[in-house]
Amino acid sequence: MKIAIIGTGYVGLTTGVCLADLGHQVSCIDNDLEKVEKLKRGIPPIFEPGIEELIKKNLESGKLTISSEITPVVKESEVIFICVNTPPKADGQSDLKYVEQVAREIAESLNSDYKVIVDKSTVPVKTAEKVKETILRYSQDETKFDVVSNPEFLREGMAIKDTLEPDRIVIGVDSEKAKEKMLEVYKPLIEKTNTPIKITSVRSAELIKHGANTFLAAKISFANLIAHTCEETGANALEVLEAIGLDKRIGNQFLNPGIGFGGSCFPKDIAAYKKTLEILGINGKFIEAIEEINQEAWQRFIHKIEKELWVLDGKIIGVLGLSFKPNTDDIRNAPALKIIGKLKADGVKIKAYDPQAMENFKKVMLDIEYCQNPYEAANSAEALLICTEWDEFRNIDLKRIKESMVTPIVFDGRNIFEPTKMEELGFKYFGVGR
Ligand code: NAD
Ligand code: UGA
Repeated sequence: MKIAIIGTGYVGLTTGVCLADLGHQVSCIDNDLEKVEKLKRGIPPIFEPGIEELIKKNLESGKLTISSEITPVVKESEVIFICVNTPPKADGQSDLKYVEQVAREIAESLNSDYKVIVDKSTVPVKTAEKVKETILRYSQDETKFDVVSNPEFLREGMAIKDTLEPDRIVIGVDSEKAKEKMLEVYKPLIEKTNTPIKITSVRSAELIKHGANTFLAAKISFANLIAHTCEETGANALEVLEAIGLDKRIGNQFLNPGIGFGGSCFPKDIAAYKKTLEILGINGKFIEAIEEINQEAWQRFIHKIEKELWVLDGKIIGVLGLSFKPNTDDIRNAPALKIIGKLKADGVKIKAYDPQAMENFKKVMLDIEYCQNPYEAANSAEALLICTEWDEFRNIDLKRIKESMVTPIVFDGRNIFEPTKMEELGFKYFGVGR
């Protein structure tokens, strides 16, 4: 099947290479020419485990092509995925200008063949209707198409696995013909993995995406609420949350307390959903509470540092982890950005290390010292912060770290170390909620 992917970022690139790998003929389009040139040479513009091999393999086999020319690709494709970014506006609303722009470009490129236009970008409920209106407004009279919602649930750092082995595939369609085409797209994957397919109305599919991200963000804020309660009472959040999560109705995933959720999606998507609720006249306090607890998570981390180190001005602090989560170089809304920003404002000298995210961090913060490895970041420091739980940090030589620090104090924002072991090694150790 001939498939077009418009917008070749985390979602578009992953979807494109995976669908090509499953046997489809896929053309990925992006208007960022630098990205397109890199991709044509098989160089991924992002760090995502496993993606480089899949790009190279499918470019070589001819199943995947990369281009910046939307018109010829739309003309020859049966299914066209919109995967562009939907960033937040200042008031939290989704900015849909890239979606509209692509809808218009698709409209101007359509021929008389039937097309399925799939919205994979995360958008507020009822956006597909606007996409349809836009296409009708800018296209020729004889155009035949349907607009489908097929939300994406992949996680960065696990994008390939999540795409090839998803928990479910949601397809929101209002036409039988579009449904058949979408089932054909996913047929090779369904046959391989037995993945459940949920066929819904277009509006339901759109709402499923905002609903799922809000629920996951709520679980994390709940875990942080319990952690904050434990810090004030002496209970242990990991014991409490493990036991709560053993209830099958609750489940133990996404119940890890820490320094708050970041990334390009949870903060943006729950703000957009809150805006939708406001427009609909529905109480959005549930989401406000999730956001407030998420703020408190990193602010409480700062308070712990202030309380222990007293005067921050002139102190040296090492930071391990800059990305918003492990296995990605993405720093969008990373808790490390806020934590380092606040400490810097208080006069702290920061020495930072991250296995993949330092190049991106340098683009927004030049005035900190970037280190070659965790040992260099800890050297001469009066405290060491763990902001991202990279596996590399779990396996560091803690004795060597301790010996190189001025005062061996560790603030572990992701609970990767065992408090008793850290104390045995001579560290003063602060986790989250324990
Ligand atoms: P991204 O910023 O990594 O990629 C978007 C791409 O679209 C960019 O390469 C950009 O150059 C391109 N683009 C923008 N306008 C274009 C146009 N007119 N023509 C061609 N290309 C254009 O974004 P992303 O992280 O892949 O997210 C895309 C969408 O998917 C968002 O709505 C996001 O909320 C959603 N989503 C993201 C994830 C994730 O983990 N990143 C997961 C699920 C859903
Ligand atoms: C999230 C969702 O998990 C995906 O299903 C969804 O497709 C995606 O958003 C999206 O819509 O873009 P992602 O942002 O890549 O994926 O990363 P997550 O693994 O969900 O982590 C998000 C943040 O929550 C990270 O900062 C992570 O450290 C934090 N987190 C996660 C916790 O603090 N505790 C947890 O228990 C889990």
